Amino acid sequence: MSEVTRSFNRVRNDGLAERFYEILLEADPRIRPLFNNTDFKRQRDLLIHAIVMLIEYADGKPLGEMAIRRLGELHSRRKMNVTPDLYPIWADAMIDALAQLDPEFSPDLGQKWRNVMQKGIAVMLQMN
Ligand code: HEM
Repeated sequence: MSEVTRSFNRVRNDGLAERFYEILLEADPRIRPLFNNTDFKRQRDLLIHAIVMLIEYADGKPLGEMAIRRLGELHSRRKMNVTPDLYPIWADAMIDALAQLDPEFSPDLGQKWRNVMQKGIAVMLQMN
């Protein structure tokens, strides 16, 4: 099992999604309004599922790619209109949440997480 998967397993049921959205919504004034109508109970479950997909895709599993392409389409200018400049803020918020919650977090682990996220984000942005 990869280091990122082990890190995810330490925090996924320990408030990762809650902490992530707290940080994300504060991170940039453009972001909170995007979530005005969001059911966060559902959103947190969907986020955890999406992180599984990001990790699987980064590991080369084809199912992950289909899910990420669908997510890219949903976030695209034609639908939610999440602009590409918001993605680095999203990734930074995830790193902050992990750093706060994973007792074994380190800069090296953070870089591995960034690599996993970046592979999926590249696919999502192709769908933009
Ligand atoms: C790797 C990057 C991202 C992943 C994995 C991700 C994941 C998700 C997932 C799983 C959903 C739910 C989709 C559904 O309803 O089926 C979602 C919705 C959403 N995401 Fe993202 N997202 C990413 C990037 C972003 C960014 C950069 C923003 C903007 C800051 C953003 C804002 C939103 C919004 C506004 C929704 C809709 C919430 C609602 O339904 O009310 N996402 N995202």
